[in-house]
Amino acid sequence: MRSIPIFLLFCFLCFKCKKELRKTNDNRGVIAKNAMVVSARAEASQIGIDILQLGGNAFDAMVATELALAVSYPVAGNLGGGGFMVYRSANGNIGSLDYREKAPLAATRDMYLDDSGDVIPGKSTLGVASIGVPGTIAGVFEVHKKFGTLPLESLLKPVIELAKKGVVVTNKQEKRIQHYQQFFKKVNKDSIIFDAQWKAGDTIKHAALAKTLERILKYGRNEFYKGETSKVIVKFIQEHGGIITEEDLASYKAKWRKPITFNYDDLHIISMGPPSSGGICLGQIMTMLEPFPLNDYGYNSLKTIQTITEAERRAYADRSFYLGDPDFVKIPVSILLNRAYLSGRMRNFSFEKATASESLSHGNIQINESTETTHYSIVDQFGNAVAVTTTLNGAYGSKLYSNELGFFFNNEMDDFSSKPGTPNMFGLIGGEANSIAPEKRMLSSMTPTIIEKNNKLFMVVGTPGGSTIITSVLQTILNVHEFNMTMQQAVNAPRFHHQWLPNHILAEPNAFDDLLKTKLENLGYPIEERESKILGKVDGILVLEDDALEGGADYRGDDTAIGF
Ligand code: DON
Repeated sequence: MRSIPIFLLFCFLCFKCKKELRKTNDNRGVIAKNAMVVSARAEASQIGIDILQLGGNAFDAMVATELALAVSYPVAGNLGGGGFMVYRSANGNIGSLDYREKAPLAATRDMYLDDSGDVIPGKSTLGVASIGVPGTIAGVFEVHKKFGTLPLESLLKPVIELAKKGVVVTNKQEKRIQHYQQFFKKVNKDSIIFDAQWKAGDTIKHAALAKTLERILKYGRNEFYKGETSKVIVKFIQEHGGIITEEDLASYKAKWRKPITFNYDDLHIISMGPPSSGGICLGQIMTMLEPFPLNDYGYNSLKTIQTITEAERRAYADRSFYLGDPDFVKIPVSILLNRAYLSGRMRNFSFEKATASESLSHGNIQINESTETTHYSIVDQFGNAVAVTTTLNGAYGSKLYSNELGFFFNNEMDDFSSKPGTPNMFGLIGGEANSIAPEKRMLSSMTPTIIEKNNKLFMVVGTPGGSTIITSVLQTILNVHEFNMTMQQAVNAPRFHHQWLPNHILAEPNAFDDLLKTKLENLGYPIEERESKILGKVDGILVLEDDALEGGADYRGDDTAIGF
């Protein structure tokens, strides 16, 4: 309750300073000269920074921060989920790692449908049937193998100590745990650590997770996929009626992928490719927006909102038809990002009236051949940059928690399209390209993104938020580039979202004035303002003109920027 007046005050200040944004550049977030880590919890940011101060690089810090989030931010940080990392090394090399979950070998296309072919409510979101084969441990080991400089022991020891020492419950966490307890009870046979009546200020110790991490440190990556831990995982999942086998774990691989790159004005944007839709959709939206003078239209003006909404609508319609796991479906990436194709997509946009989503489908492309998260951004003292978004999907994933191992399992299977035309938990409609198949990765919206300007590192950004991830990353970039905001202002600014279907603009509550909303509605843009709905928790780093780093940590969570 205490946050409501603060939020209102913030909105007031935002609108008040709107006209002055161009001139003033105070209101910066945390500034550091050498290195910065911005993540969902101070404990995780601090461990990342400690690793950098030990002389480690951004990749070492990634390994430690990722696992520290599994301890300090269990709603999304994980061992039982997966994620994506985009990097830009100090020498300008770029790349990305896909450690997304995959469907188990025994998964079938119709596994979430009943005998009449209807989606069984909750089966792909709650409990054991929703779990995809986890990728996080494979991911961090892969990063360490390729780029790490410090011994794993130096990276994992502080995380294990944190798990043993425990993590202090925040106000936000207290409310979150209370809210989800009903689901923990529904899904778990035994009572779990999160069933207790935790209050802000209490310390939760993670002894079981510390033991799991100690075994992983001792025996390496394969401990999770082929060792004792894998056996405990499979036994636990199968006792709850799940289909994941030892073979599923043994065959899991993290995959290096080519990032999606595109230009917008003088920015060069590097983002995650399939099986995330993030990079392609961001590229499509920004390319559709580029010809429009958003800067002249003004920050969150009627025309700006209309233009952004229409570009989003078109990109999400394409997402739904064309995108899936690139190892299973042919994705016409270059056409989807082609300027001529995208300007054609915007041809029927008019400021006079909204395009009805029902009248709009995916673009016509000839193919000559045969689907609670957390983001952190790191820049090290050497100039390496890492953007990572990692997830269990829903808050606490499937809600299934192994007391023996000390972590939650994801419910990522819901990111597949269980049935064409039926929305998943984010309201996203999917098609054949994102149907379920054994070993296939479910389509994601996660958009870890790095931006260069004049061939130099300019920004590192990303967020959780399901389908709203792409549009929150988009607005943060535009806020800095088009509307001259600081990193922290860009993160704080109110956000809106459109995803083709359902046909409405999702707007942060109390962030847009009534007159603007009425004008939008009169033009055919229904507005949906869900009470307390949060559009993402953006964590970004901006390189300033004097090469100092500005961290932008989202006030919507407990996010914290720490630098030195
Ligand atoms: O990969 C995806 O797109 C989703 N599983 C992300 C889920 C998410 O961001 C939930 N957090 N608010």
